[in-house]
Amino acid sequence: MTPQTTTASASGTWTLGDRTVNRIGFGAMRLTQHGEAFAADAPPRDRDQAVSVLRRALDLGVNHIDTAAFYFSPLRSANELINRALAPYPHDLVITTKVGPGRDPSGHWLPHAPGQLRGQVQENLRQLGRDHLDVVNLRIVGTDSIAERFGALAELRTAGLIRHLGLSNIHPHQLTEAQAIAPVVCVQNMYGLGASPEQQELLDHCGRQRIAFVPFYAIAGTARTAGATTDPNPHVHEIARAHGVSTAQIRLAWTLHQGPTSWPSPAPATATTSPEHRRQHAAPVAGRTRHT
Ligand SMILES: NC(=O)c1ccc[n+]([C@@H]2O[C@H](COP(=O)([O-])OP(=O)(O)OC[C@H]3O[C@@H](n4cnc5c(N)ncnc54)[C@H](OP(=O)(O)O)[C@@H]3O)[C@@H](O)[C@H]2O)c1
Repeated sequence: MTPQTTTASASGTWTLGDRTVNRIGFGAMRLTQHGEAFAADAPPRDRDQAVSVLRRALDLGVNHIDTAAFYFSPLRSANELINRALAPYPHDLVITTKVGPGRDPSGHWLPHAPGQLRGQVQENLRQLGRDHLDVVNLRIVGTDSIAERFGALAELRTAGLIRHLGLSNIHPHQLTEAQAIAPVVCVQNMYGLGASPEQQELLDHCGRQRIAFVPFYAIAGTARTAGATTDPNPHVHEIARAHGVSTAQIRLAWTLHQGPTSWPSPAPATATTSPEHRRQHAAPVAGRTRHT
């Protein structure tokens, strides 16, 4: 790295539980294969390339990784790639995992089963080669009560397997419900340019309560698992042209400008596997720099 290289710290830092990390993290969902995430026929990513993507991200200042045991393709597991690339882990690296969804060994999605949460936490521990998980998000679907599931994770936190708990894909009332059971340090929801008023309000609510907000699909947007294809928004193209940057950079910069100035969030975990794109993320376009 040259002395002139901009690193992820250029976007400021934020607080995740009892840790301070740089604002732009690394999302591991696309690490195991090329093309659409979770597509059964997508070609696997070369193992050495995936390892080098992870190490390069850390070189560029990333010290927060978002992953899950269910991020795997027929030949690769994101957690095992992270373990291989980065263990023994640097002391300042925070690895966030998520549980709730499960896939069978062939990759087919399984129905959510609250009784599987302990096993999913243990699977993450095994794959990452750790004795505890820094942050575990309960990823849910729908508006039902999450008390039983969050309570099960709170017990694992008390038992020392998990340091901090978060929530993903939630509605505001579910955050309130969880907080009555155990502290919630982060919320990971879909958020970016064009976010719904409900998500905007949830972001502000989290800011007021000093809960980290970690958006997903900040760049991919409505293309979701397909990844960033041609941006559908002509205004984004226009602004990108005016700044001489890519539409992805504009989307990322927009997200970094949201939220209360007193609280450094949203803090996206971006999922690029391109070294050039990772370098661009480390130097966001006119990104507001805020410090805790
Ligand atoms: N909790 C949940 O329910 C949930 C759901 C989805 C995702 N997630 C997490 O959130 C992370 C981020 O979501 P995401 O994967 O959709 O990531 P994203 O960062 O919004 O989008 C990634 C896509 O954008 C492209 N891209 C990134 N930077 C670019 C640039 N500078 N120029 C052009 N293209 C660029 C990437 O392609 P290149 O590789 O070619 O750069 C990739 O196709 C995931 O990895 C995962 O960890 C969580």
